[in-house]
Amino acid sequence: MIIILDFGSQYTQLIARKVRESQVYCEIHPFSVTAAVIQKLNPKGIILSGGPSSVYEKGAPKPDKKIFELGLPIFGICYGLQVLIDYFGGEVSRAPKREYGPATVDVSTDDPVFAGMPRRLPVWMSHGDAATRMPSGFKTLATTENAPHAAIRHAHKNFFGVQFHPEVHHTPDGVTLLKNFMFKVCGETPSWNMKSFLEEAIRDVREQVGNSKVILGLSGGVDSAVAAALLHKAIGHQLTAVFVDNGVLRLGEKERLQNIFDGSLGHDLRVVDAGAAFLKKLKNVSDPERKRKIIGKEFIRVFDAEAKKIKDVKFLAQGTLYPDVIESVSVKGPSATIKTHHNVGGLPKRMKLKLVEPLKYLFKDEVRALGRELGLPKEMIDRHPFPGPGLAVRILGPVSADRVALLQEADAIVESEIRAAGLYERLWQAFAVLLPVKTVGVMGDQRTYQNAVAVRAVTSQDAMTADWADIPRPVLSRISNRIINEVRGINRVVLDISSKPPATIEWE
Ligand code: XMP
Repeated sequence: MIIILDFGSQYTQLIARKVRESQVYCEIHPFSVTAAVIQKLNPKGIILSGGPSSVYEKGAPKPDKKIFELGLPIFGICYGLQVLIDYFGGEVSRAPKREYGPATVDVSTDDPVFAGMPRRLPVWMSHGDAATRMPSGFKTLATTENAPHAAIRHAHKNFFGVQFHPEVHHTPDGVTLLKNFMFKVCGETPSWNMKSFLEEAIRDVREQVGNSKVILGLSGGVDSAVAAALLHKAIGHQLTAVFVDNGVLRLGEKERLQNIFDGSLGHDLRVVDAGAAFLKKLKNVSDPERKRKIIGKEFIRVFDAEAKKIKDVKFLAQGTLYPDVIESVSVKGPSATIKTHHNVGGLPKRMKLKLVEPLKYLFKDEVRALGRELGLPKEMIDRHPFPGPGLAVRILGPVSADRVALLQEADAIVESEIRAAGLYERLWQAFAVLLPVKTVGVMGDQRTYQNAVAVRAVTSQDAMTADWADIPRPVLSRISNRIINEVRGINRVVLDISSKPPATIEWE
């Protein structure tokens, strides 16, 4: 494995992605992790990430000095390079010319890290500081017009640094550079894949859980489904999966889940029909944050009550993913709460159960690959994300059983037409939103005064940003015609053409 020390760069996760795509397992740790902890993990090399700080400023993040004595190869990226220069006695200062954006690096070496790469490399730069004096014992491997030390290495130790960002898409040969470091310098081999991950994860779960019972909340989403399938494979009937029908699910969701888990996979699945209780609590509530909090709280109450019915449960399993884990260990400033997210997290503190989180080192697409390895059906794995508070945040204004039924029907039409047009996989999400307005229409010779829905379809990589999707006109036309003709109570369909930011994907 490779250890990545996080100095707060927005690209740290990308480094991990590139390493894993090269079939090498890696973990991100905070920059301050001790050398002793690193040594225990027994990695083959260390990557120092970039970061927003200036290494010469007071209080700038610095790693444990002993990491330089572990005998492990080190590769510093951007701020990581500056950490190396600073530690070995060189000088970093504010660059006369800041560099943000594309640049060309001239490579002047046959060093193994640049093996098989062109002598002139297009790269992505993003820094305001630069190395102004090299420490003794180091040599320059590459330069750019503005950065005389764009790549450096220690003369006889395996310490390397680059000022540019090999992990970003705008540095096309960047992955080769990272692979050279891992394979030629660290002696790694490309051997990490989902099959080997699964075998190891099963062993770990069995070891952690022993003969105890485990409970897991299925949400209908990919993560909890994959976690359930993995645990079932590892511990069989020691696992009980609980699915809470909160009354604001997509059309047919409960049946779909029962078919897969109760049916073909043979899980011990308990379905709790709590729709009426949720809707009662939601009655006359319009405020989005209140809706979210009510649903989160009610979910915990229902799940807790169900868990108490199962004797001797010691563990709670969750489909926590790596980005959530990194989020909580990284050097990040406080950020404003845009929406209070509800998912099956939030349970553990109350329930006094130990946690099993078999996916906590995986990224989303790795979880999908694992799901395929576990034999989950394709519709389950490729399912669009669905918010924990469900249709409640897609019904603007108060939520009621009637309005849920209206939206479910309209939403099912959007999904089926998007699938029929072969667009489902290309979109991040596509759904309907029920608006809190009525509009006048004419049907036959009659005046109508009915509801309006909005169609929301977006493309995105990670939900942090999103673009409204360009759905072909004939598809939009079919969606509109079908909703207005088939869903009694809706007489108008509008299209949401806002991107995120400044809008968000969900309307509430
Ligand atoms: P927004 O609306 O913030 O949504 O752009 C970003 C992504 O998150 C999903 N979402 C949620 N997922 N619990 C979840 O598990 C929630 O409370 C929640 N709220 C929004 C949303 O569907 C989109 O994919």
